Amino acid sequence: MSPTLKRILKRSIIVVALLAVAACLAVFALSQQRLQRDYRISVSLPPPRAALADEGAKLARSRGCADCHGDDFGGKVLLDQMPFARIVGTNLTPGKIALGPARSHERFHRALHHGVDMHSRPLLMMPSAEFTHLSAHEIEALSAYLAGMPQVERVLPKSAMGPLARAMLVGGKLDGFLSAETIDHGKPAVAHAPPLGTLAYGEHAAQLCTGCHRADFGGGAMSHGGPDAPAAANLTAHASGLGAWTEADFIAAMRTGTRPDGSGIDGAYMPWRAVGQASDQELHSIWIYLRSRAPVERQTRSRD
Ligand code: HEC
Ligand code: HEC
Repeated sequence: MSPTLKRILKRSIIVVALLAVAACLAVFALSQQRLQRDYRISVSLPPPRAALADEGAKLARSRGCADCHGDDFGGKVLLDQMPFARIVGTNLTPGKIALGPARSHERFHRALHHGVDMHSRPLLMMPSAEFTHLSAHEIEALSAYLAGMPQVERVLPKSAMGPLARAMLVGGKLDGFLSAETIDHGKPAVAHAPPLGTLAYGEHAAQLCTGCHRADFGGGAMSHGGPDAPAAANLTAHASGLGAWTEADFIAAMRTGTRPDGSGIDGAYMPWRAVGQASDQELHSIWIYLRSRAPVERQTRSRD
């Protein structure tokens, strides 16, 4: 190789290396800005009423909190895949946080309604964009239940975003990971859920399905499911969705994880074990609400 060519080659290698370093720094800075954004949420609430604990217990099961925070709510590692990320569902039992009941009520309100922690920083992967629709009463009930739980001592690592997750976040490939970014923080929580058994209650409860089944309930690929995840099913009354299902089929599917044709619903992605713990009246409301929606034509199940 001629000396000139060598020099050019050496220079280009240096330039490429510098560009790579600059890109890494930019990804870090851009992601850090979003991960450390201060949402300046101020919440002041009295201690939750202990009498709401039973109601909170049912909500904690049927809304899937146990799926991510552990059956004893003592927290669990959801994902440990560095250099992607490590995501840990927080220990929600009282003891360790030593916040006192009023602060703990605030903590739940911050997390569920706003998607932020006590320092107003965004929570990772906590699906608050769906929980933001919970009523103030439901948040109080959840908080009352968990404030009365026995303390669980468990050593858990902290959640952290690795370089891969940061690059995806900056590249717009991790939509829904930071719920705080999509929530309207100026909108207060509704005081109470509509009466159980009504269409309005169904609409209220079905907001929890929208993060995966989309706002039109027509389903499709999930933004946060990973490459192996099945598409979320079309839940509307179109033939490509639940057109042929009856209410009894729907309730049985949520209770048993089995479709009317006998096939199984993938519980690793569809939280049917949680949804199936909702009462008949709750599931009835969700069903009539789904049936009231415009049918969407969208094939979501691979027919094998
Ligand atoms: C899909 C998983 C998932 C579900 C479902 C879920 N959470 Fe979380 N939650 C998380 C993760 C992960 C964190 C920690 C995020 C972090 O470290 O940034 C978290 C954080 C929280 C926090 C904040 C703790 C703090 O740092 O202040 C509270 C409170 C909470 N969740 C309550 C609930 C309740 C109540 C429910 C059910 C209504 C629920 N979560 C359902 C994943 C989930
Ligand atoms: C975390 C994501 C997620 C949430 C939240 C979720 N689902 Fe699903 N759901 C899925 C996925 C993914 C599938 C497809 C599973 C499969 O292919 O086995 C599915 C399948 C279903 C099915 C089976 C339909 C069919 O034809 O396969 C029903 C019914 C259903 N969901 C209802 C609901 C309802 C009602 C809610 C809210 C109360 C809800 N889901 C919340 C992800 C979710």
